Amino acid sequence: MDDILIKSPGQIEGIRRSSRLAAQTLDYIAPLVKAGVTTEWLDQRIEEFIRDHGAVPATKGYNGFPASSCISPNEVVCHGIPSPHVVLKEGDILNIDVTTILEGFYGDTSRMYTIGEITPLARKLVDTTRHCLDLGIQQVRPGNYFGNIGFVISRYARSQGFSVVYEFCGHGVGVEFHEEPQVDHAARRNSGPLMRPGMIFTIEPMINQGRPTTVIDRKDGWTARTSDRKLSAQFEHTVLVTPTGFEVLTDANQEYHLT
Ligand code: MF3
Ligand code: CO
Ligand code: CO
Repeated sequence: MDDILIKSPGQIEGIRRSSRLAAQTLDYIAPLVKAGVTTEWLDQRIEEFIRDHGAVPATKGYNGFPASSCISPNEVVCHGIPSPHVVLKEGDILNIDVTTILEGFYGDTSRMYTIGEITPLARKLVDTTRHCLDLGIQQVRPGNYFGNIGFVISRYARSQGFSVVYEFCGHGVGVEFHEEPQVDHAARRNSGPLMRPGMIFTIEPMINQGRPTTVIDRKDGWTARTSDRKLSAQFEHTVLVTPTGFEVLTDANQEYHLT
């Protein structure tokens, strides 16, 4: 079954509500992300917030993942496991990735947080990655190729001297956690399937300071680090293809306008 689902109006409304909650979770946690706290403590706050709002954290127990969020500092590309041993410190950059299940529907979003003063290079990586996500979103409209998302992302990331992770991708989302299609963040122009109204998927570029390759932690089986241990950054939104363009479903603060 590798068809891309076209969501019904009822499904779209359900996914919109779940996506808004996921984004509100990232807003809620922002002031708590400070030097001295552990990533496990942040995960506990995230789990409470999600459950207090009538939802369930999708990652908990997903293929054995043990936590309610992925928290990925510095050289961790994605799937960092919240830990009582990881204490945040001045100069850290980190991604927090939250996926909610609300009334059966999934919303998936992540963003970067920074602790105190960070290096100019870390700042440039974070800002470039954020712009990569926005460039990808601007490609979302009926009749465009999925490959153009990854084409514009990789063109911009490389122009800034960074590399694009190709071993992890965006994905259809909403009725299941990971649906078709796979959304590549480095792709050829005009490649892949065509976007159609009612499709919902994530765009979640992971951009590296150095080499694009990753290594999975041999002990925990999850944590993906840059193979050269240089920095990595990621932002993620859940996006709907509308009849005229896109709607960012995980945009709780109306940073994007509808097209
Ligand atoms: N939220 C991640 C994504 O963007 C997936 C995490 S799966 C987990 O697709 F098992 F690592 F939690
Ligand atoms: Co995702
Ligand atoms: Co995610």
